[in-house]
Amino acid sequence: MPDNSPATSNAAANNGDTAPVLAVENLVTRFDVPDGEVCAVNDVSFTIDEGETIGVVGESGSGKSQVFMSVMGLLASNGAANGRVRYRGQDILGLPPQRLNRIRGAKMSMIFQDPMTSLNPYLKISRQLNEVLVQHKGMSETEAMNRSVEMLDLVRIPEARRRITMYPHEFSGGMRQRVMIAMALLCQPDLLIADEPSTALDVTVQAQILDLMRDLKRELNTAIVMITHDLGVIAGLSDRVMVMYGGTVVEAGTVREIFYNPQHPYTEGLLKSMPRLDDSRRGVLPTIPGQPPNLQHLPAGCSFRPRCTYAFERCETEVPPLTRFGEDRAKACHLESL
Ligand SMILES: Nc1ncnc2c1ncn2[C@@H]1O[C@H](COP(=O)(O)OP(=O)(O)OP(=O)(O)O)[C@@H](O)[C@H]1O
Ligand SMILES: [Mg+2]
Repeated sequence: MPDNSPATSNAAANNGDTAPVLAVENLVTRFDVPDGEVCAVNDVSFTIDEGETIGVVGESGSGKSQVFMSVMGLLASNGAANGRVRYRGQDILGLPPQRLNRIRGAKMSMIFQDPMTSLNPYLKISRQLNEVLVQHKGMSETEAMNRSVEMLDLVRIPEARRRITMYPHEFSGGMRQRVMIAMALLCQPDLLIADEPSTALDVTVQAQILDLMRDLKRELNTAIVMITHDLGVIAGLSDRVMVMYGGTVVEAGTVREIFYNPQHPYTEGLLKSMPRLDDSRRGVLPTIPGQPPNLQHLPAGCSFRPRCTYAFERCETEVPPLTRFGEDRAKACHLESL
């Protein structure tokens, strides 16, 4: 996944069949603010293969959402993204909205944290779902209705044919989240980006949504990006993990490697701060001391250095590049190993 070998990705550039579903190279995203610039994404590169599930984890403000907002062309108006983003070999960064719309929703779709930001409260669910199919797939109203009901069944909404004629407020939070997932999957995208799809919900409903995502992963061959604060969410769902800190990827590897053999001090800290079901220290869980970096004034050297118990001189002056090691792992740290 971490792709710091341009040769391999260029070779696949013109071949949509063998190219990864998504290839991001040297993505840099900045926001203009009245007193300067926020460096939200700082040189991020990765690829996602067909059917793969990637977990993206990191503290609040680490740039997780903005990486994928950049990919989807959904940045706020004060933001700009540079670098290269390819969907199946096709360059999509900076495409005009009309051309991007052919890909967005149909080939790549995104689920947001709060379903009410994506559902129109004034329109029946049927209208919102069917419209997508009529527009993107040219279906008739009847075909669209049948397909929408099928999708609501797929996301386990009971009595889908009756409920589809309801308005969003008539659904519970968890059911609305299911509708959002159904909507995102309507056109059978190859890539589904789920940005914290469960955090606004209570714990039981959250667990049900994650179970659903797990089932969908098995049933459909959609590549999934799961963005979350919570390593626990990723454990049961992802093939690989990307750990973000201060707008960069600091470690990447398989779930097993990241969990059992973290090689970046930040990943190690995240794992230590993870609550456990059998934890007798409930309420006094360790957190990583210190604050995330100020993205308007990134420190010189490694941005994790002020919080790192292993830091040494080199970390103060040299930014550690994301470097591959072992089999398909990468870390951005000057330490040989932890
Ligand atoms: N429109 C904007 N203008 C200025 N700064 C912005 C804007 N949008 C996002 N940012 C900043 O970009 C940084 C990265 O934000 P991002 O939303 O990617 O974080 P995140 O990792 O998804 O956090 P969370 O876990 O809280 O969702 C943050 O510091 C945020 O304040
Ligand atoms: Mg976010």
